[in-house]
Order: sequence, then structure tokens, then C-alpha cells
Amino acid sequence: MNQMTTPLRIEIIPANAPFTETQRHWLNGFLVGMLGLDGTTPLSPEQGAAVLQGPMGDGDDGEVPWHDQTLPIGERMKLAEGRPLRRRMMAAMAQQDCGQCGYNCNDYSEAIAGRSEARLNLCVPGGKETARMLKSLHEELDKAPAASAPAAAGVAAPAPSEAALPGRSRDNPIAATFLSRRLLNKKGSEKETWHIEFDLAEAGLDYVVGDSFGIFARNDLGLVDQIIALLGASHTTKVNGKTLRECLTEDVSLSPAPDTLFELISFISGGALREKARALAQGEDPDGDAATLDVMAALQKFSTVRPHPEAFVEALEPLQPRLYSISSSHNATPGKLSLTVDCVRYVIGKRKRLGLASTFLAERINPGDQLKVYVQKAHGFALPQDPKTPIIMIGPGTGIAPFRAFLLDRRATGAPGKNWLFFGHQRSDCDFFYADELNAMKTAGQLTRLSLAWSRDGAKKFYVQDRMREVGRELWNWLAEGAHIYICGDAKRMAKDVERALVDVIAQFGARSTDEAVSFVGELKKKGRFQQDVY
Ligand SMILES: Cc1cc2nc3c(=O)[nH]c(=O)nc-3n(C[C@H](O)[C@H](O)[C@H](O)COP(=O)(O)OP(=O)(O)OC[C@H]3O[C@@H](n4cnc5c(N)ncnc54)[C@H](O)[C@@H]3O)c2cc1C
Ligand SMILES: NC(=O)c1ccc[n+]([C@@H]2O[C@H](COP(=O)([O-])OP(=O)(O)OC[C@H]3O[C@@H](n4cnc5c(N)ncnc54)[C@H](OP(=O)(O)O)[C@@H]3O)[C@@H](O)[C@H]2O)c1
Repeated sequence: MNQMTTPLRIEIIPANAPFTETQRHWLNGFLVGMLGLDGTTPLSPEQGAAVLQGPMGDGDDGEVPWHDQTLPIGERMKLAEGRPLRRRMMAAMAQQDCGQCGYNCNDYSEAIAGRSEARLNLCVPGGKETARMLKSLHEELDKAPAASAPAAAGVAAPAPSEAALPGRSRDNPIAATFLSRRLLNKKGSEKETWHIEFDLAEAGLDYVVGDSFGIFARNDLGLVDQIIALLGASHTTKVNGKTLRECLTEDVSLSPAPDTLFELISFISGGALREKARALAQGEDPDGDAATLDVMAALQKFSTVRPHPEAFVEALEPLQPRLYSISSSHNATPGKLSLTVDCVRYVIGKRKRLGLASTFLAERINPGDQLKVYVQKAHGFALPQDPKTPIIMIGPGTGIAPFRAFLLDRRATGAPGKNWLFFGHQRSDCDFFYADELNAMKTAGQLTRLSLAWSRDGAKKFYVQDRMREVGRELWNWLAEGAHIYICGDAKRMAKDVERALVDVIAQFGARSTDEAVSFVGELKKKGRFQQDVY
């Protein structure tokens, strides 16, 4: 989901070559310069050889063994030991390539190492662990002279691009109108998942299926007012030209208490409290409760300390947008966009905690209200170019979102390719999202196969990958016919388990050893026939 582009016009390395956007742009630039295609003097063989020690000229071999979202940060950093700084920075990212930072993991690290990105706190899934690691790696960068910044040698400076247009990146959001919400679960469900609709006509935004939608939510007013009371401040106090209440609602994150808040508390307290706050600021966990400390819980923990509202706001992290897979098709319903959002609510101690954006969409925005949004272009998650290509889509829970979009798009464009959807959730009678639509598509023959897996209908858990194994022979036949396969949904467990099932199916029905089946899946990925949108 890289936003970088280059001013170069000559493209020697094709877009589907196995390079990141940054590497491809750099290689294009290098080859154009070396061959003198831009009218300049071609590089000498020595100059070429010097630059060609690895794609960035720092001798790195380009391998990324840490690029696995299921590895903990300690293991990822170990795998990156001895690598150039930019590679260790990449290993510090959460490895989901989720695009929330506005880049993918590689390009975000290249941008920091190349000094074109100063923000070290953009990796949402990596949270505080990633931010802390980046901060400490950045200290190495600070010590290096600017000219020897690793990526400065190779990465073309980003040129004004589509990302600079309104509504095309997190840095340039645009206003859109919230239209409606509808609960997708029925009575008896343990889940709360909403179908959410927006009107994009005024914003003039379009999108393609596979893209995600970024939204800027507002904090819950109840939480904001409790925090203001804990500060002993007035909600009308002016901070940064706004009232304290507006500022806490719109501008800062009230979720995990950042290290900088504990630093502030340590500066203005003394004795044991000061020691405790200092330890928390350094990532330690003196009372075993660090993971539960959001901003309000931190203020309650240090209830005798009252930071000044201005210093307090300055110590908080900016409020980050959240991304959602788009579940509609612009070709089917131009000017409209929908999302499929699972509401995050949980309890710690006696206090109810609210996921910021999911509960904002579920209860704090009303039809007709405007909010700041942007379309985050997908990189490597799209329908096949040939509309005849069969597709296999595996999307339990909210993972169904982009696949509803794929199906609606293929119907709108009359794409003749076969479509197979694996959907799963907890219970068939209350968690079968879009059941009427999907059944109608099946009856009409557009949805060639619909395979379902209900995890809590029976005594034993039954997941989409169990269904895949059951129908492994047909799955293999589709793959042998050239089908593209897609996974969307939970990154930490589901995506890996589904990939493992795919390997098993290929080994069993494609008559291959496990190693050969793993390579087969690797080849599918390289060819863009196996794509994932996981979070
Ligand atoms: C590319 C992409 C596509 C996505 N698509 C979708 C989609 O289609 N639908 C969808 O619903 N989501 C999707 N997400 C996830 C979405 O972006 C948000 O992360 C999600 O809605 C939660 O955001 P929030 O602001 O509501 O919660 P936050 O305020 O971010 O809170 C979530 C955090 O709360 C904590 N937490 C959650 N549950 C518990 C618990 N039980 N106990 C303790 N702590 C807990 C965790 O730290 C968690 O990270 C997608 C993410 C990405 C990156
Ligand atoms: N960042 C966030 O805060 C946030 C917000 C929303 C969702 N998420 C993540 O996104 C995921 C999607 O949530 P969701 O509401 O769409 O659905 P979900 O909770 O993932 O559940 C969808 C279905 O997947 C099943 N499942 C659980 N583990 C699985 C596995 N290893 N392999 C295959 N299927 C598995 C579930 O079964 P059982 O539950 O019965 O085991 C359920 O039937 C969540 O798991 C959550 O981790 C994160």
C-alpha cells in the first residue's frame, strides 16, 4: 500500500516484477541512468557495480525472513541482526503490510531510514513495541551523517502523486457523508457487526474493489469528560486554539497510554510514584498492569498527579485513522461505499472499553453527518485482470467484506469467471452475513460455489479450513485450472491456518510432497495468484 511514486517516465521493470514499489522505482531509475535513456551520460561499469551491491547499494541481499506477522518482535529483530538499519527498521514493523501507516512495512522503513518520514508511531498493529523499537533504531540514524543515510542512496524522492489528491491518502482526507448502519447479526449472536454505508458523490471519490477505506473517528464524549474531570480542568480551557474537550475528542488517541504520558507524569511527581512512572515510560511493567493502561486508567493510577492540560495533550499520540476493507463495488453502485465492521467492546476490571472507530461507526455518528475519510489503494489485492479467471475467496467473519465487493463487481461488469466463496462464522442462524444476497447469487449461478463453516453450531469447532480440506479435490481442480485464491480476515491465527490447509490440499490432491506444496504456494504468491488482505 505504498504511496511513493517517482517522476521517471521510462518503466523498464514491469509493475508485476517481484519487487516492492520502492525497489522497482529505484531499479527503473538506475537502469535508465545506466543506459543513458534519460539523455544523460551512461554510468561507468565501476559506478554501476558500486550501486549494484544489492538493490539499495548497501550490500543487503533483499531477503526478508522476518516478514511473518505471526512472529513476535524479539524473533523478528533477531532475524534482522547484522542487517543494514533500514532492514532492522522493517523487522520492527508488524509485518502485516496492512497499509494503515500509508505505506507497506518495507516502504515505511525505507522512508524513515531515508529521512523522508519523521513519524515513528504510524504502525498501528505494532503498537508501542514497534514505536519503541523504531525510536531506539532512529537514534542510530541520528548519529549517521545525513549523506550516508542508507536509503538516501537509492530511493527516489516521492513526487507529488495521486496520494496528494483529496481523499487519496491518510494525509489528505476528504469529507464524506455517513448514510446508514444495519446490524448483520441476528438475535442470539455474541457478535455485533454492522453494514455501514457512505455517500461519496459530493467528495467525488471512486475506488476499485480490493481497496480499503480510511476513516477518522472521534472519541467518546463520556470518556473525554471523565478525563477532563480527572485533570481537574474545565472543558472550555483553550489548547492549540480549540477547547480541551474538542481537542480530546478529535485530535488525540485516548487508547494505550503512551510512554510520553508516563514521562510527563514522572517529571511532575516524586518518590515512588516518579520511579513507577519512569519505569512505565521505559516499557517496564512494575505492577503487572501496563497492558491495561489506557489514558484514563493511567490518570487514575497516578490520581494525585494533575498534568497541565496543555502538557497533557502534548504528551498524547495523535488520533490515527482506521482502515476497513470496502464491501461494495463502485461499478455496481457509483458514489456509494459500504463497510462490514465488527464492533470492538471489552471490559477490563469494571470499566467498559470501546474500540474507537468501530463504536464510532456503530453509535456515535448519525445519518447525514460528515466525517473525514480516504481511499487506501490496495497493492496486490485485486480481481484477476482476465474476467474469465476463476476465483476462490476465503473470508470468515468480516473477512467477507472485500469478497462481497468482488462478487458485486463481477456481476456489474458481467465477468464470466467462476466464483467460489468460503464463509464461516460462529452460528448459522445468527451470524450468516448477507445470506439473502449470497443465496440469490448462488441461485442465479453467479456464485458458483458457497462453502460454509459454523464454529459454534456443533460440539467441536469447525472452521473454513476444515471445509477446505473436505472439498480438497475440487479446490485443487480449480487451482489447476488457474484460479486465483484470496484470504481476508484475522491475520494472527486464521490466515496462517488457512494457508496450512491449502498446503495440505495441494500436497494430497496435487500429488506433491509437503515441501513441494509449500513451494507451489510460494509460486502462487509470486505470480499474484494468492493474495491476502489480513488485519
Ligand atoms: C487493511 C485493513 C482492513 C480492515 N478491514 C476491516 C473490516 O473489514 N472490518 C473490521 O471490522 N475491521 C477491519 N479492520 C480492522 C479495523 O481497522 C480496526 O482495527 C478495528 O475496527 C478496531 O478498531 P477500533 O478503533 O474500533 O478499536 P481500537 O480502539 O483500535 O481498539 C482495538 C484494540 O483494543 C484492544 N482490544 C480489543 N479487544 C480486546 C480485548 N478483548 N481485551 C483487551 N484488549 C482488547 C486491542 O489492543 C486492539 O488492538 C481492518 C484493518 C486493516 C488494516
Ligand atoms: N484490531 C482489532 O481490534 C480488531 C477488530 C475487529 C476484528 N479484529 C480481528 O479480526 C478478526 C476478525 O474478526 P471478525 O469479527 O471478522 O471474526 P472472528 O472473530 O475472526 O470470527 C470469524 C470466524 O472465524 C473463526 N475462527 C477463529 N479462529 C480461527 C482460525 N484459527 N481459523 C479459522 N477460523 C477461525 C471464529 O470462530 P470462533 O470464534 O468460534 O473460534 C468465527 O467462526 C478477529 O479475530 C480479530 O482478531 C481485530
